Amino acid sequence: MTKKVSEMSPDEIKMAVRDTYAGLAGKSDGDCGCGPPAAKSSCCGPPSESFQESKLKEYGYSIEGLPASLTESNGSCGNPLALASLKEGETVLDLGSGAGLDAFFASQKVGESGKVIGIDMTPEMLEKARKNIDEMGVTNIEFRQGDIEALSVEDSTIDVIISNCVINLAPNKAAVFKESYRVLKPGGRMMVSDIVLKDTLPDSVRDEVASYTGCIGGAIPEEEYLQLMRDAGFIDVHVAEKAGYDIAVSAKIAATKPL
Ligand SMILES: C[S@@+](CC[C@H](N)C(=O)[O-])C[C@H]1O[C@@H](n2cnc3c(N)ncnc32)[C@H](O)[C@@H]1O
Repeated sequence: MTKKVSEMSPDEIKMAVRDTYAGLAGKSDGDCGCGPPAAKSSCCGPPSESFQESKLKEYGYSIEGLPASLTESNGSCGNPLALASLKEGETVLDLGSGAGLDAFFASQKVGESGKVIGIDMTPEMLEKARKNIDEMGVTNIEFRQGDIEALSVEDSTIDVIISNCVINLAPNKAAVFKESYRVLKPGGRMMVSDIVLKDTLPDSVRDEVASYTGCIGGAIPEEEYLQLMRDAGFIDVHVAEKAGYDIAVSAKIAATKPL
């Protein structure tokens, strides 16, 4: 019998998340990762060919001309770059970079004088992301294997942190925000898209592994999320935009490390 999430250790939860996204890295036909429950129902039947395209379009991505391998394993729930106002020469860190779509867009914005570091714990996603950027000849992105709760990044070296539908998957969200604060330069920005809750989830949903790995079960209420960011030291913590799907909301959240 499958364990309940409440009976699993943080490492067991991360293993379940890694297995899910390893599977998604190998998929070229749909999305069983994060996203609105209505859209995700397409996972259960024959995949719709245009599912990824329509989802990314809805989030404001312009993906025309990009290789399918960069877009097909996307697990986003928004578009954090819309907030990021990235500038030439900046160093960007993408937490949970997946197949590399956001890292790719960030790399175009920061240019050759800038740099993007993508961190992900799933080897299959990293392999896919590295292959994608190699094939496109992009040279200013580095993908590192690692856990966003313990970043393999030097203190005060990052201008902007982005993350798209990932922090909800971390069992220790306080650690993610503390680490993010540590690696940002003074004045650095954190701008993420993530799922937050409007209300408490029923235990049955919170305890379901598929709900956790699908970015709902591990999500926390909006105010708790913002408070964890403030507790880590961030200022100007706010929700810039939200789109709701019942109890869970896709929110664009921004914060700054004080100077
Ligand atoms: C829903 S997908 C989002 C991927 C990407 N940001 C996107 O928008 O397509 C979640 C990704 O986060 C990664 N991930 C989840 N928890 C992580 C953790 N604790 N440390 C590093 N990566 C993690 C997974 O391996 C997966 O690639």
